[in-house]
Amino acid sequence: MTISVMGLGKLGACLAVTAAESEHKVIGVDIDPSIVEKVNRGIPHIREPQYDIKLASAIKRGLSATTSVEAAVLNSDITFIVVPTPSDPDGAFSLGALRPALADIGRALEKKTSYHLVVVVSTVLPGSCRYSLIPTLAAHCPSKSIGVD
Ligand SMILES: NC(=O)c1ccc[n+]([C@@H]2O[C@H](COP(=O)([O-])OP(=O)(O)OC[C@H]3O[C@@H](n4cnc5c(N)ncnc54)[C@H](O)[C@@H]3O)[C@@H](O)[C@H]2O)c1
Repeated sequence: MTISVMGLGKLGACLAVTAAESEHKVIGVDIDPSIVEKVNRGIPHIREPQYDIKLASAIKRGLSATTSVEAAVLNSDITFIVVPTPSDPDGAFSLGALRPALADIGRALEKKTSYHLVVVVSTVLPGSCRYSLIPTLAAHCPSKSIGVD
C-alpha cells in the first residue's frame, strides 16, 4: 500500500517518517516547496527527537515529497491530511487550510478509478466533517460516491 501525507509540518513529517518504517511506501505533500526540497534531500526542517535519523532511514525506504496533490493522490491508496487548523478569534479551529486541501484531493479523486481512503488527522471540532469538510470534498469529485466512517 502507498500512503500519502498532506502537510509535512511538526505532526505530518513525523507521521510520514514513521509510516515509512512499515512496509508501506510514503509520499509526502506540502504547499511549501522549501519543505518538500528539504524532505527530499534528507535535511530536517522540524526539531523532534530522532527525526533526522528516521528521515534518513525513510528516504532509503523510498519516502519522497512533492507539491503536487494530484500526483500524490493518484499514486497512493490513502491520504492522511495533517494541515494546520489554528484557533479562530471565536475559539473554533480554522478550516481555512483544510477546505482547499480537500478541494485539491477531490479534484484528484475525480481522475482516479480505484478506491481511496481520506483521513482527517488535523484537529477539528465535532460536526466539521459532516457540515463542511465532506461537502467540500464531494463538491470537487461529483462523479464519485463517498462513504463516511
Ligand atoms: N504538532 C502536534 O504535536 C499536533 C498534535 C496533535 C494534533 N495536531 C494537529 O495536526 C494539525 C497539523 O499540526 P502541525 O503542528 O503539524 O502544523 P504545522 O503548522 O507544523 O504544519 C502544517 C503543514 O501543512 C502545510 N500545508 C498547509 N496547507 C496545505 C495544503 N493545502 N496542502 C499541503 N500542505 C499544506 C504547511 O505548509 C505546513 O508544512 C493541526 O490540526 C494540529 O492541531 C498537531
